[in-house]
Amino acid sequence: MSEIIKNNTEDNLNRRKFLNRLVFSLLGGTGILTLLGSLTLPFPRVFKESFRFKVGRVIDFPVDTFTFIPEKNVFILRQRKSIQALSAACTHLGCVVQSDRQGFLCPCHGSRYDRTGNVQYGPAPRALDWLKVTLAADGQIVVHRNQKVNSVESLRV
Ligand code: FES
Repeated sequence: MSEIIKNNTEDNLNRRKFLNRLVFSLLGGTGILTLLGSLTLPFPRVFKESFRFKVGRVIDFPVDTFTFIPEKNVFILRQRKSIQALSAACTHLGCVVQSDRQGFLCPCHGSRYDRTGNVQYGPAPRALDWLKVTLAADGQIVVHRNQKVNSVESLRV
């Protein structure tokens, strides 16, 4: 009888030790993961649209034509010896304008821009933005969305 009680007590002690170790291991592991996770908080992984992007090579754009780049909402104007970029964001509330023979028309509230991006009528408060354009080392045209230029500034090609 005392042998059975002794075995039961040893089993309970072993079980208790095992459960204690399991609980401390889980808590310790959770603590380490939480600490590692909190170290990344100052560096959030948020989507940032690049202010600079490549749109293609000069020869990709037909001369005397506005080419719309839908994923970037810009028009590339290639002329015989120059390249320019025009933002397609309407200056009223930011809808994407569409090009036509007269220039650009905003489908949201009807602002009309001429081919140089100036407002002809509608609620738009100012002209469309011309954006800085440079040439990358690999020959690609780079548009700088955060650098506005005047309408006569262009990249010579
Ligand atoms: S957003 Fe273009 S006219 Fe209102």
